[in-house]
Amino acid sequence: MVIRSQIAGVGSYLPARIVTNQELERSVDTTDAWIVERSGIRQRHIAAEGETTSDLAFEAAKAALAHAGMTADDIDLIIVGTATPDHTFPATAAKVQARLGMTKGVAFDLQAVCSGFVFAMATADNFIKAGQAKAALVIGAETFSRILDWNDRGTCVLFGDGAGAVVLKSAQGQGTTADQGILSTHLHSDGRHYDLLYVDGGPSSTKTTGHVRMKGNEVFRHAVVNMAEVVGEALAANGLQSTDIDWVVPHQANIRILEGTARKLAIPKDRMVVTVDRHANTSAASIPLALAEAVNDGRIKRGQLILLEAMGGGFTWGACLARY
Ligand code: UT7
Repeated sequence: MVIRSQIAGVGSYLPARIVTNQELERSVDTTDAWIVERSGIRQRHIAAEGETTSDLAFEAAKAALAHAGMTADDIDLIIVGTATPDHTFPATAAKVQARLGMTKGVAFDLQAVCSGFVFAMATADNFIKAGQAKAALVIGAETFSRILDWNDRGTCVLFGDGAGAVVLKSAQGQGTTADQGILSTHLHSDGRHYDLLYVDGGPSSTKTTGHVRMKGNEVFRHAVVNMAEVVGEALAANGLQSTDIDWVVPHQANIRILEGTARKLAIPKDRMVVTVDRHANTSAASIPLALAEAVNDGRIKRGQLILLEAMGGGFTWGACLARY
């Protein structure tokens, strides 16, 4: 028997305020047509004044616990994937832990930008497989609106705020691909490309928070290649073909990246969960937001094979193959 990390529940939270492309046209030198054609984005949610990443993460965590039929007492690990923490320290995860009323367990943040959720899933899965945790809240939560340069049309139209969460719990499996739970995770980083997508601030370098800087078209090229490669790696590791996958839940950066990756892998578009049109790029939150949407509307069903894949600043990229 092997230990598997089963997905017990999913949840998400989006700030109430929606900002459409038309609204941005009034303050930024851009057009709805350009944004839709180049990225597929039509609107994004933006956190209210005073609404922080931990607020979003807490709401998503509560929803995931309710969906799992579990309480915070059952959880002994919280990992928040975020690049926009409430504070430089302590971890946003520790704030979530306190708000959930937990006085035990371990809580920390993980920073892999847009790949943060996949990295957090891999980390929690390894804690569970090692017997170091029994049940984990894995959260992706971001308020990218706070680190955008609203005068840089090349970035500010692309991002949004939100949070998603998954409850993972330890379960016994046979070690086959028929098991429910995470089958494998695959992570990569390549720090040589950090200046293609980074924030020009930080406590140690500039003493400021800084803003997102991106060479979009260069990131785009790497994104399709890296994501297709890591998905191939995940399939090969499990002896599976792309035709075995029921649902791909990709990081939502750009509809053209999603479609380009799907094409490279010969995965039909109708087996891909897409939220980028309504959520824009919510970095580490985008995958759990999309996952929660597709589970809650009944598209993703128990027993189906799902593939999560992401690519982000660093560069970081990764995939997580699971049977829901
Ligand atoms: O989340 C993880 C990582 N992030 C990504 O994966 C994002 C990857 N990159 C992308 O999604 C795309 O590269 C973008 C959507 C950012 C840009 O699309 P593109 O087709 O690569 O456009 P581009 O950057 O090559 O820019 C084309 C033109 C430029 O004008 P010129 O130089 O051709 O005259 C830009 O100045 O579009 C201009 N432009 C805009 N025009 C209107 C850039 N941003 C805007 C804008 N509105 N918001």
